[in-house]
Amino acid sequence: MFGKRSNDPAAPRRPASQAPSGGAAPAEPAKNAVVALPTQTTPRAEAAEQTRRHSEEYYDVKTSVFNALIDTIDLTQLAKLEAAAAREEIRDIVGEIIQLKNVVMSIAEQEELLEDICNDVLGYGPLEPLLARDDIADIMVNGAGTTFIEVNGKMQKTGVRFADNAQLMNICQRIVSQVGRRVDESSPICDARLPDGSRVNVIAPPLAIDGPTLTIRKFKKDRLRLEQLVQFGSITPDAKAILEVIGRVRCNILISGGTGSGKTTLLNCMTGSIDSDERIITCEDSAELQLQQPHVVRLETRPPNLEGEGEITMRDLVKNCLRMRPERIIVGEVRGPEAFDLLQAMNTGHDGSMGTLHSNSPREAISRLESMIMMGGYALPTKTIREMIVGSIDIIIQASRLRDGSRKITHITEVVGMEGEVVTLQNLIVFEITGEDANEKIIGRHRSTGIARPRFWERAEYYNETEKLAKALANSEVRDAMGRTMGEADA
Ligand SMILES: Nc1ncnc2c1ncn2[C@@H]1O[C@H](COP(=O)(O)OP(=O)(O)OP(=O)(O)O)[C@@H](O)[C@H]1O
Ligand SMILES: [Mg+2]
Repeated sequence: MFGKRSNDPAAPRRPASQAPSGGAAPAEPAKNAVVALPTQTTPRAEAAEQTRRHSEEYYDVKTSVFNALIDTIDLTQLAKLEAAAAREEIRDIVGEIIQLKNVVMSIAEQEELLEDICNDVLGYGPLEPLLARDDIADIMVNGAGTTFIEVNGKMQKTGVRFADNAQLMNICQRIVSQVGRRVDESSPICDARLPDGSRVNVIAPPLAIDGPTLTIRKFKKDRLRLEQLVQFGSITPDAKAILEVIGRVRCNILISGGTGSGKTTLLNCMTGSIDSDERIITCEDSAELQLQQPHVVRLETRPPNLEGEGEITMRDLVKNCLRMRPERIIVGEVRGPEAFDLLQAMNTGHDGSMGTLHSNSPREAISRLESMIMMGGYALPTKTIREMIVGSIDIIIQASRLRDGSRKITHITEVVGMEGEVVTLQNLIVFEITGEDANEKIIGRHRSTGIARPRFWERAEYYNETEKLAKALANSEVRDAMGRTMGEADA
C-alpha cells in the first residue's frame, strides 16, 4: 500500500538510506539482500534517554511505522541523497504512513517519532540524543541494555538502550567504517573518530563478554580556556597567571593525571600561551587538540591494518617531526618508548615542548617516564635516565578528578635537580583539601608553597615576565588572621 517494492527491477522505487556495512542480517534477505538496517533487526529500539522515556504503545507504533517505511523506500537510492534531503523524504513518507494507518498522535509525538526513525535510518540510532548534548563528557555503552554518561564529572545511568547487541554492533560498525576501519570477531578492538572529532573506542565480543562496548569521549565544540578553568574553580586566577608565564617562557611541560582528569584539556589550554609565529608540530593517537596558532602541523598515529602491517607509532611520529624543523613539539599522550625521543627533543633546542602522561602525582610521573624509557629497550643506567629527565622537563602540572566529580589542577611542580640518585621536585602551587560542604562538595584552596624565585626565573627575566610571575606567586601565599604568610608566621 505504500508503493511496496517488488523484485521487478523496473518497478519504481523511493530512495532509501545506505545501510552500514557488516553487522546484523537484514530481516528480509530476499528483498533487501544488499542492505542491513540496524533497526530492521531491532523493532523495539528506543532512542530514549533518561528524560525521554516513552510508553510501550509508542514503540509499537514506531515499529509498525518503521516496518512500513522499510517496505516502501529504496535504501540504495536514499543513500545517494544529502542528509537533509533524505530526512525530508523520510518525513514525507512517514507522514503518509501515519495518515494511512490512522494513527492518533499529537504533533509533538509525531515529531519525536520522526526524529527517532530518522536517527535509526540515517544516524547512530539511540545514541543520537546523547551525541546532540554538549554537556556530556563521555558516553559509555556496555552492551545493548546499559548506557552510562558522564555529566559534570559524575557518572549517570541513562534510559538509552539498543534493541539487541546486533543493532549496537551495527552502529559501532557504521562509526568505524567512516574512518576506513572494521570491527568484528576477528578484529574486535578498534579506535575511531566521529565526524565531529569525538574519540571512539569499540571492543566487541568475544573480548567484551557482555556485548559490544562503545566508549565515546565527546568533542567539546567550544574548547575550554584557562579562563574557564578559573570559573570552574579548577585553578585560581593567580595560578592561571603562573601557567601563562610557564607556557610563554618556553618551559618544557609534562601534564600528569588519571583517566579523564582533564589532561588533554589542560594541554590545549597551555598551548594558548604560545606565540603565533612559532612552528608547532602535534603528535596524537587521535587528533583532539585544537590549537589556535596559524603555523601548526598535526600528525596522527596509525594502527596496523588487518594483515598487521603499516602501523605508524607515536615514536615514528616524534622521530619524524624532529626532521620537520619544529619549534615546539606537542605529544598528546606519552605512553611508550617515544618518551625517550620527546626528552631528547626537549633537550636539544625544542624548548617549550609539552606532553601528557597518565599518572597520579608529579613524583609518579617521573618514575613512569623512567620505566617507559627502560621498557623501550635502552640499556642506560637509571641515574643517566634520571639526569636526562631532569635536563629535559621543567614543569609538571598535575590534573585530578576529585571524588565529588570536580576537576582541579592540584600541583604546579618544578623539576629542580638531583640529589644523589633521586630527582628533586619542588611544588610551586598545591591544592589543599580543607573539608566538605553539606552537598559533599570538596572545599579546598590553591596555595603557593612560599617559593618566590622558581627555577625558571631566569627564563621569565629573558621574556620580561618576572613581574607577572612574582605577583602571582605572592598573591597565592596563604595568610593567617594577622595577614602573615606561612613563612612570616614561622619566623
Ligand atoms: N577543569 C575542568 N573542569 C570541568 N570539566 C573539565 C575540566 N577539564 C576537563 N574537563 C572535561 O572533562 C572531560 C575529560 O577531559 P580530557 O579529555 O581533557 O581528559 P583526559 O585526562 O585527557 O582524558 P583521557 O585520559 O581519557 O585522555 C572533557 O569532557 C572535558 O571537557
Ligand atoms: Mg586525553
